[in-house]
Amino acid sequence: MPFTLESKTALVTGAGRGIGRAIAQKLAEYGAAVMVNDLDAALAAETAAMLANAASLAGDVTQLAFPQQLVNATIERFGSLDIIVNNAGYTWDNVIQKTTDEQFQAMLDIHVTAPFRILRAASDFIRETAKRETAEGKRVMRKVVNITSIAGTDGGAGQAGYSSGKAGVIGLTKTLAKEWGRYNVNVNAVGFGFIETRLTQALGAEASEIEVQGRKIKVGVQPAAIEAMRQQCPLGRLGTVEEAAGPVLFFCSSLSDYVSGEVLICSGGARS
Ligand SMILES: NC(=O)c1ccc[n+]([C@@H]2O[C@H](COP(=O)([O-])OP(=O)(O)OC[C@H]3O[C@@H](n4cnc5c(N)ncnc54)[C@H](O)[C@@H]3O)[C@@H](O)[C@H]2O)c1
Repeated sequence: MPFTLESKTALVTGAGRGIGRAIAQKLAEYGAAVMVNDLDAALAAETAAMLANAASLAGDVTQLAFPQQLVNATIERFGSLDIIVNNAGYTWDNVIQKTTDEQFQAMLDIHVTAPFRILRAASDFIRETAKRETAEGKRVMRKVVNITSIAGTDGGAGQAGYSSGKAGVIGLTKTLAKEWGRYNVNVNAVGFGFIETRLTQALGAEASEIEVQGRKIKVGVQPAAIEAMRQQCPLGRLGTVEEAAGPVLFFCSSLSDYVSGEVLICSGGARS
């Protein structure tokens, strides 16, 4: 192995299923202790149970007080916080004339405000720890990976809210790369194309509803749009969650110690 994550503690949001679970598995495979978060308590616990050294804390990252609780619980449980992956997310799509204020705001809340609050909640620990390490003559690299989308970099028809949230998190990524470089933190984003998960299954399929703050929202994509994406993708297929987790692992590893403020697109070559 060209690197190890042993002695590192990672926090992964939305890790009860899909890409987040695959990221948690990859990080654990390379030795990291992992705090697994998800809205869905049973699935978060199930992910944690699969990993060698993990715990779970279920909760909604868009709730005002929860990001600080999640960060505190991670530090209390594992004694550190070295890797943060802001992955939790969902789609609530519609053309602009049918998009309500509530819908648009929900997309900003989950995709940019929640990552902002989680990173702000971690900032005291990160700054104080880095200052102490520097005084001791050590350089310990820490990692933030924010999950975005080709809808954020290129726009997505029917996704005014989602695209805006996913574009917003790129601004957060680039800004924190500048603010936290002095604390030895690499801050990067990975933007996905079409990865096979609940979010990209054909609309109408089972288990395609997500409940956030009492709202039941249908997630999924029109079958014709899935086929169009497949045809437009140079690799001619959707990606797997394991393939999605690979670039995230890269940004969490020492292989990317001199890379910061970047957006790596993992889409089989497709743009939206
Ligand atoms: N699947 C794709 O093709 C694709 C493409 C681009 C970007 N993404 C992004 O990748 C990330 C993971 O998506 P996925 O495809 O694995 O979806 P998924 O639905 O399979 O998994 C997302 C997980 O996030 C959790 N979650 C949602 N809202 C939450 C909240 N408020 N608090 C805590 N947990 C919450 C869900 O419960 C779910 O378990 C998302 O940010 C998504 O926008 C996915």
